[in-house]
Amino acid sequence: MRIAFISDIHGNFTALQAVLADIKSQKVDRLICLGDVATLGPQPREVLAALQALDCTFIKGNHDSAVLNPEEAAHYEITSHLIPDLIWCREQLTESHLELIQSFLSKYELTFPNGVSVLSFHGSPLSSTDLLQSTTPKEVMEKYFEGQTATVFIGGHSHIQMYRRMGDKLILNSGSVGNAFEYAFTPGLIPSLLPWAEYAILSQSGSSLDVDLRRVYYDTDALIQEVQKSGLPGSAWWLRQFQK
Ligand SMILES: [Fe+2]
Repeated sequence: MRIAFISDIHGNFTALQAVLADIKSQKVDRLICLGDVATLGPQPREVLAALQALDCTFIKGNHDSAVLNPEEAAHYEITSHLIPDLIWCREQLTESHLELIQSFLSKYELTFPNGVSVLSFHGSPLSSTDLLQSTTPKEVMEKYFEGQTATVFIGGHSHIQMYRRMGDKLILNSGSVGNAFEYAFTPGLIPSLLPWAEYAILSQSGSSLDVDLRRVYYDTDALIQEVQKSGLPGSAWWLRQFQK
């Protein structure tokens, strides 16, 4: 059984198309999206239309909650300069797009045929805004996973792929489809984006479980053109993320 995990698409349809093509070539049995689908990028409508056509289980990210309730954006830890982009994103979406986002789950657990259980979430098992990184202290990490019975955990939110063992647990991050960061987000600094899209495949065969943290190169020049013609309020900020 093979399961693909995509996360943090952030309105980047150019990257999503590349990832969906790669997933098709990988012959997976299931698809799980870990949230943050529409906001920030130039193509929220195209992303939602593509997601509606998929057979996919969706988890709700902090940006998904914020686009449903823009007046509560601060509660979902969306920084104030991104609010105009959030409002613009909501205006691009139809009622049926918003209904799909409303239906997203807070977390989702499944068990592979060999008994390995996997808990999916956006930030942590406790909250879509918890930020788990390779550098997060062990004591802090343990609080997020206390009492959890799954063996493998997978989330998004940090926009950085991660493979971290913690006791008998494995903590994974599938990275970001549309907004892969070169380094960890630092408040006040413009993130630096990498020229590829990230996602993960977990596959079980017999008693083994393979983790494949994948990188898919896509046409960033095409994305930049989409940003330039989109009318996105923060387009200049977006474009700066590609400058070295
Ligand atoms: Fe995100």
